Amino acid sequence: MSGGDSLERYREDFPALNRRRRGKPAVYFDNACTTLVPTQVIEAMNEYYEDFPSCGGGRSRHWFAEEVTTRLKASRRTVAEFINAASEKEIIFTMNTSHAINAVALGFRFRPGDNVLLTDKEHNSNLLPWLRLQEKGIIGVDRTVPGAADAFDLEDFERRMKNGRIRLVSMAFTSNTTGHTIPAKEIVNIAHEHGARVLLDGAQTVPHAPVDVRDLDVDFLAFSLHKMCGPRGVGVLYGKGELLAWAERGGGGADNVVESTILGGGTVDDATHDSYNLFEAPGRFEAGIQDYAGQIASGAAIKYLRDIGMDRIRAHEVRLNSYLTEEISSRYESAGWFKILGPRDAAERGGILTFEVKRPNAIGIAEQLSDKNNIMIRDGVFCAHSYFNERYGVGWMRPRAHAEHRMVYRVSLYFYNTMEECRTFLDTLHEVFEERSYI
Ligand code: ALA
Repeated sequence: MSGGDSLERYREDFPALNRRRRGKPAVYFDNACTTLVPTQVIEAMNEYYEDFPSCGGGRSRHWFAEEVTTRLKASRRTVAEFINAASEKEIIFTMNTSHAINAVALGFRFRPGDNVLLTDKEHNSNLLPWLRLQEKGIIGVDRTVPGAADAFDLEDFERRMKNGRIRLVSMAFTSNTTGHTIPAKEIVNIAHEHGARVLLDGAQTVPHAPVDVRDLDVDFLAFSLHKMCGPRGVGVLYGKGELLAWAERGGGGADNVVESTILGGGTVDDATHDSYNLFEAPGRFEAGIQDYAGQIASGAAIKYLRDIGMDRIRAHEVRLNSYLTEEISSRYESAGWFKILGPRDAAERGGILTFEVKRPNAIGIAEQLSDKNNIMIRDGVFCAHSYFNERYGVGWMRPRAHAEHRMVYRVSLYFYNTMEECRTFLDTLHEVFEERSYI
């Protein structure tokens, strides 16, 4: 299979792709965990440390500090434009997606009897914060049940919205486990009809496809820059302006307003020994000296992706994944011990191909792929323990009867991956299966 829009020239920008081990190149298929970083982003980070390593947020009024403030403002604007936010004031820099979701979970003004609705495929970052609130008796937690092919079931969702006193819907936009993307626009519409707010965990969506918060009309969106060629330790919480407004002392009035939970330097306009007056968003959510290098380089990462084009990125991933899916399922699926998780059609899984191997000692395939041909994939539960425990039974990864042993592996692609890398992966996997006498 060949053809399509080649994005191969972008590979030159990634120093890590030039590395060789035992004379062989790196085949990086662990992009859902974190992506590689192009020179443009590394340079943007270095520029901060080399040229103006100073504090931002308007604290100091000197040459270097002004440069930080100007660059930061531009970066925040780039992020806002990328997701089509109405204002850069709706963009809060966080440490990562987990931090962004926790900021909503801890700051949302819940009322007694409120429930939060999740899917059955949440990453721990969009499960644990809600379970903690449930343990404390602040909310109840409900989850949707998937329909055919493990896909999102809008009827089940609507039923729960009708019956469940759901105040907030908080869902993985794209599952990091199966790659399935939920019908976000319909979900937001239905949730709003029932008076609920919607938070989307966009960690696996925003890096791979165009996302327009105003078109979706979503209330909150969380994502991480490290999954989109950006620096580690920087995430974003988007929130509609009216939901982020000052509310600590009754201002704003809206019940849905998210309060800032970490206060300190940079969050406050004025304070006395007895009182304080917080800044508007985003300042009131960004306490203390920030990762300015990372936040500035986030703009560089987004510009890099924007120049390639999010539609091209998505199309490229689907093209590679369709090829992998076709090959891998025709080779192994009839054997009964090999299974792709999520929808059959690769177009519904973007760049994610997760498969289950149910054979004695099914563990260790990722290490073998790495040892043989520097192929890097992820195995395990991908921080979605609850999904696998529900499917396979709690403790399924612990040693158990050989015949029952299974392991799950995930290939996750990005725009710099190639068809040749896919062929190397398929050939090496076949070799591993042969050596293990699986085939
Ligand atoms: N959420 C990341 C993953 O899926 C860490 O691998």
